[in-house]
Amino acid sequence: MESSNIFSCVLFFLTAIISAIFLKQRKSFCRSKRRLLPPGEMGLPLVGETMDFYRAQKNNRLFEEFVQPRLAKYGPIFKTNLMGSPTVIVNGAEANRFILSSEFKLVVSSWPSSSVQLMGTNSIMGKQLGEQHRCIRSLISSSLNYAHLEALVPKICNTVELHLQKNWQGKDNLSLYRSTKVLTFTIVFECFLGLKVDPQMVNTFERVLEGVFKPAINFPGTKFSRAKKARQEIEKEMVKVVREKRKEMESGLEPIEKGGLTLLARLVAAMIQGEITEEEVVDNVIVLVFAAHDTTSFAIAMTFKMLAQHPEWYSRVHQEHMDILSNKGPHEGLTMEDTKKMKYTWQVARESMRLFPPIFGSFRKAIIDIEYEGFTIPKGWKVLWTTYGTHYNTDCFEDPLRFDPSRFEEGSIPPYVFLPFGGGTRACAGYQLAKLNILIFVHFVVTSYNWSLVYPNESITMDPLPFPAFGMPVNISPKMPSTP
Ligand code: HEM
Repeated sequence: MESSNIFSCVLFFLTAIISAIFLKQRKSFCRSKRRLLPPGEMGLPLVGETMDFYRAQKNNRLFEEFVQPRLAKYGPIFKTNLMGSPTVIVNGAEANRFILSSEFKLVVSSWPSSSVQLMGTNSIMGKQLGEQHRCIRSLISSSLNYAHLEALVPKICNTVELHLQKNWQGKDNLSLYRSTKVLTFTIVFECFLGLKVDPQMVNTFERVLEGVFKPAINFPGTKFSRAKKARQEIEKEMVKVVREKRKEMESGLEPIEKGGLTLLARLVAAMIQGEITEEEVVDNVIVLVFAAHDTTSFAIAMTFKMLAQHPEWYSRVHQEHMDILSNKGPHEGLTMEDTKKMKYTWQVARESMRLFPPIFGSFRKAIIDIEYEGFTIPKGWKVLWTTYGTHYNTDCFEDPLRFDPSRFEEGSIPPYVFLPFGGGTRACAGYQLAKLNILIFVHFVVTSYNWSLVYPNESITMDPLPFPAFGMPVNISPKMPSTP
């Protein structure tokens, strides 16, 4: 080859390499110019702003001390660093809609490692693939269709009446919050899942729940390691129960077809048909108790707190239940139709959950770079949506800190504004059960007991779910049959 040809070749390759480098740099420059992170502070190395977040949470002032100051400074979308993860906090109905309806496409649910280990990687909350999530979700939802809910009403009534007989009768005061925790546990376990409650089991479940949001340090003496041990005990027991149920169903003692069965039987039927595994059955039984327990009890506690503080609403609610009762025969129980007449009660309960959401929001993780409102949420970052961003927002609720259940007149709340039960793909799967639990419990208490709060201004603590600091003690006395 002539030397001029060699020179041309070298020149060609050099030009090609320089052009490629230039183009690559230009592309990445353009991308980084486009990649505008939301405003906000990342705090100290590693810990970020976690301590500020925890401090505000402990005082039940997460909105006032953490979210609101940043909202005021940076606007509705801002970045921070929580528990070692860069995180974007989004606020507002449109942002809620965007994130909550993008599950599996842009984001996946992201629970702390301790929660996943204790609830089980096979539970609905741990499912990060759309198809697997849909399968478990449809099993849970089909147990809460209209026909099943109708059948649940007498069962829940029976459980509430027995609970009041056992735990309220003959007493003049008790912890309302503790009482509702035991009751909620029994309702999920017995009425929904179809399992017999062993009183010891409640305590073992409580030990698991105590570790769910603690650092995942499996070292003797930590809350997490206590919780892990408790989970192992439950798991052992549940495996036994599931295998017994399987035997019953396979030997024809209980039919395998899915209609009309308790949720446990539906899960086991799906296992027999190869749709889900034994681990999935066990993990989902555990997760349902976790999802229902503290949330429903706190919602009930706050409903009673609000009724005590707003006597005009108590009168309406009381009258509503007396009217339902007066249309019943002596031994006639409540029906699904009766629960639909509890309009004021449900308005009060919803307004209580707006002001005191049992779950303040939840974390997602970006599975690709997300472009939203001119900002980039990079792949791998966490996204936190909060109820506060709409529940306490004057654009969404007029005079948002005022208690006014009439805001919930039929059809008056736009989508993704009122979110105590979340929204989108992962909206609460137990919403209908929680609603029945709350309405029926209020019915039996306001028609059978006079009650008053021992501490009308009892504070709320969060760890990390909210609860009344002293367990909400109430003074009670039975109503005489003729007392209005
Ligand atoms: C007042 C009571 C309750 C409240 C406030 C509540 C709230 C919530 C919220 C906010 C979510 C969404 C979490 C997220 O977006 O990551 C959720 C999910 C869930 N809830 Fe509830 N919940 C309540 C009661 C219940 C009950 C009684 C059950 C069932 C027995 C239940 C089962 C579930 C399940 C299985 C999920 C996960 C759904 C999924 O990932 O697809 N919840 N709940």
